[in-house]
Amino acid sequence: MGSGGREHALAWKLAQSRLITAAGGTLYASPGNPGIAEHAELVQLDLSNHDGVAAFCSDKRVGLVVIGPEAPLVDGLSDSLRSAGFAVFGPSRAAAQLEGSKGFTKDLCERAGIPTAGYVRTLSLDEALTALDRFTPPYVLKADGLAAGKGVVIAQDRAEAEGALADMFGGAFGSAGAEVVIEEFMEGEEVSFFALTDGAMIVPFGSAQDHKRLGDGDTGPNTGGMGAYSPARVLTPDLRNEVMRRIIAPTVKTLAEEGTPYSGVLYAGLMLTAEGPKLVEYNCRFGDPECQVLMMRLESDLGEYLLACADCSLGSLERPRFSSDRALTVVMAAKGYPGTPEKGGTISGIEAAEADGARVFQAGTARDGNHLVASGGRVLNVTAKGSTVAEAQRNAYRAVDALDFPSGFCRRDIGWREVEREAAAG
Ligand code: AMP
Ligand code: GLY
Repeated sequence: MGSGGREHALAWKLAQSRLITAAGGTLYASPGNPGIAEHAELVQLDLSNHDGVAAFCSDKRVGLVVIGPEAPLVDGLSDSLRSAGFAVFGPSRAAAQLEGSKGFTKDLCERAGIPTAGYVRTLSLDEALTALDRFTPPYVLKADGLAAGKGVVIAQDRAEAEGALADMFGGAFGSAGAEVVIEEFMEGEEVSFFALTDGAMIVPFGSAQDHKRLGDGDTGPNTGGMGAYSPARVLTPDLRNEVMRRIIAPTVKTLAEEGTPYSGVLYAGLMLTAEGPKLVEYNCRFGDPECQVLMMRLESDLGEYLLACADCSLGSLERPRFSSDRALTVVMAAKGYPGTPEKGGTISGIEAAEADGARVFQAGTARDGNHLVASGGRVLNVTAKGSTVAEAQRNAYRAVDALDFPSGFCRRDIGWREVEREAAAG
């Protein structure tokens, strides 16, 4: 389920799974995109009509449903399909609150003693303005619900914070802003960490670093992510173990104990602070574009792991294997993004871009007659490997330069932090 670059990367790996190849299975995708269509049969299902999706699964005797984006998870699609008897990769509605409600996650962290920023949940502008007194700038203000990654404001002073709170309670994020969480500002480097879980067993599933700002040098407005690389070696094995022990394990344990076990992928956004790693936020699905670099490095059979999350058998599998290569992805966006992107720009040269082993995952594309055209903000994820991040970066940009996408643009410095660290280490 899904239609972005994350789902293209998942479909590419799932099409190679023994669940499909050895069992004579078929991979379906809904709604999919032209890139996904190279690996799967596209079907148009209304994901908000759970009975309709269940009827399709029953008709095709679907063995595993993989839900890519957060919205259908928060909407309870996995519950509906599970009660109809299907195996589903992705958490229940109750467990997906980890992403669906920032306040839910903060309260869970407090109950379980998980390191994160101090916070206050507020339900009205008055309450929020009073609560601001307990914080110092910069102020971190978050609409509680799903806001397509746009619900967080970091305000430099009190006036800006008051303005942002008035906007949030005034409906700028719709019902997502009916509650606002105010947080302590944390300083440090951010990394993304992924773990698969079936509700009891947990396995680490890689790390990555995203580039949220639009412009080179991490400048300009926030976006859904302009590029990523994996692994994020700032998350050393010691830090990773600490994250598993102090953040991921207590989260999974607490949710299970409280009767809302979590299964699927847990995506932890982490801040590496002077006091150790702290949780910034949880997502209940793979990161986009982080998933693309993880899939580029994954050597194990993705389908087997996703199925094991769904049927509680993760403990029977070996640890997933990832290539020691680095992978890096560059997002090509359509001019205008993250505002209103230009639609319909033609794209060609994908074969040339992929000639040396790079892969072009499609995120916002459509077919227009014989042409592939842009149909969204983030359009392509040009992904390559190398023995170092610097080499993966060169390979990715060589592929970018082989594309012909005149209405597209990208950052030219994806991976810069790690490239600098590699250069400093000699
Ligand atoms: P979120 O949607 O919660 O990931 O927040 C979006 C971005 O805001 C994060 O990736 C961080 O860069 C930043 N952010 C969120 N919470 C904090 C915090 N407590 N301290 C510092 N930065 C934060
Ligand atoms: N790349 C950030 C996200 O998927 O939320």
